[in-house]
Amino acid sequence: MSGLVGCGGAGSSEGNAAPLTYTNRLRLPPLLEPEADGDGVRRFALTLQTGMTEFFAGKPAATWGFNGSYLGPTLRARKGDRVAMKVTNQLPESTTVHWHGMRLPAVMDGGPHQTIEPKATWTPEWKIEQSATTLWYHPHPHGATSMHVYRGLAGMFIIDDAEADGLSLPSSYGVDDFPIIVQDKTIEANGTLSEDTRPTFGIMGNHILVNGTYDPFLEVTTSRVRLRILNASNARTYHLGFSDGRPFHVIGTDSGMLRKPVQTDRVLLSPAERADVVVEFATGDEVVLQSSSGDDDIDEGDFNLLKIRAAGRLKASPALPGKLTAAAPIAASPGARVRRFTLNGHDAVNKREMDMSRIDEVIPAGALEIWEIENTVYAHNFHIHEAAFRVLSIDGKAPPAYADGPKDTVYIPPKATARLAVQFGRHTDPVMPYMFHCHILRHEDEGMMGQFVVVEPGTEGSVSRTIPTHGHG
Ligand code: C2O
Ligand code: CU
Ligand code: CU
Repeated sequence: MSGLVGCGGAGSSEGNAAPLTYTNRLRLPPLLEPEADGDGVRRFALTLQTGMTEFFAGKPAATWGFNGSYLGPTLRARKGDRVAMKVTNQLPESTTVHWHGMRLPAVMDGGPHQTIEPKATWTPEWKIEQSATTLWYHPHPHGATSMHVYRGLAGMFIIDDAEADGLSLPSSYGVDDFPIIVQDKTIEANGTLSEDTRPTFGIMGNHILVNGTYDPFLEVTTSRVRLRILNASNARTYHLGFSDGRPFHVIGTDSGMLRKPVQTDRVLLSPAERADVVVEFATGDEVVLQSSSGDDDIDEGDFNLLKIRAAGRLKASPALPGKLTAAAPIAASPGARVRRFTLNGHDAVNKREMDMSRIDEVIPAGALEIWEIENTVYAHNFHIHEAAFRVLSIDGKAPPAYADGPKDTVYIPPKATARLAVQFGRHTDPVMPYMFHCHILRHEDEGMMGQFVVVEPGTEGSVSRTIPTHGHG
């Protein structure tokens, strides 16, 4: 693996940057045990730190991580739990930590207004109010998110609930339920991470890591295996499937379970999107998780990601349930308020760049609205904080069944328009905004982001459209 070609970043169609041999055991982010919680609160301590990571054996790279040198531990909590975070910044720069997809008060959200200075500790606390799903956490400092994430700051946050517990889905972490965090990097022949960016989209690497492992393999021991796939890349978008074309079932989207398992053989994941999938294995199977090329610049190239080897004896897993959740799909009434957004170039929404002091939208608490996002030029995606939405259509066409569940991020091809039914939360704060933005991190950093506040219904007219900022970013 050391003879890797330096990859300039042009889309390669010949697999990962070099042919893979699948010699490295897939790393598993540790589950972070909460500290003693006599008061019924789950307390998690996260430290953002610098470190060294060997993507290529014997060739360390300078990286950043949570409680380690790269990525972060997996957090796990149940609906109804109170969680208290102690987030300490030991980096040389100020940053923030955002709980992507979490429904919570704006001051706890970890967006660009919740700066954590070097050596400082931030202690947000909230109650988990949402249903079983797979979320993640990552920095969100204004103008600097892309490099903070690229250097390694990202982790998974799994939410459990009683309804999902009753389904006998694979759910033993690291046994039949695996995080699959997919990221593209440009790794130099000497093993270091290159921060060279491409025009327009920023980072587009040709080494695909899974859980921070290059050239990985995973051994599975059960007949059904759950993969919680997170695209934690800066820009790259994947069309994921298996080398033998085997079908699999998608059971959950970004913000929750699908109503029933949906069979497919390919899922599209743009940055920040998640797919919760269950794959069946027979004794001795060997199959490679792959991404095939699309045609929108950020999804070009065919890649091998991970070899999965099934053991010589497999423990039988329960059958997949026919129904996954009784929760009604998000639907908007015919009279729902419609807001329209355009994504302009690579740095603006509705022709304006992000301004930390400007409130772009005022949303009444609990609102169900239609958001229409028109993408005017390049490929983008769109993420809304503290909301869950259902994709009604992309250019008038319904999404594939596997993506027709609750989501917080959606891919929008060049020049397409997405129509979403958006369910907003009930935490009000007229002076602390949530964000909506393109999750191609270069675009977010360049200003393709806006801010909304959620307020008591009826008070929208009296909300100030400017807020004080403290000179960060
Ligand atoms: Cu994953 Cu505003 O972010
Ligand atoms: Cu988010
Ligand atoms: Cu974008």
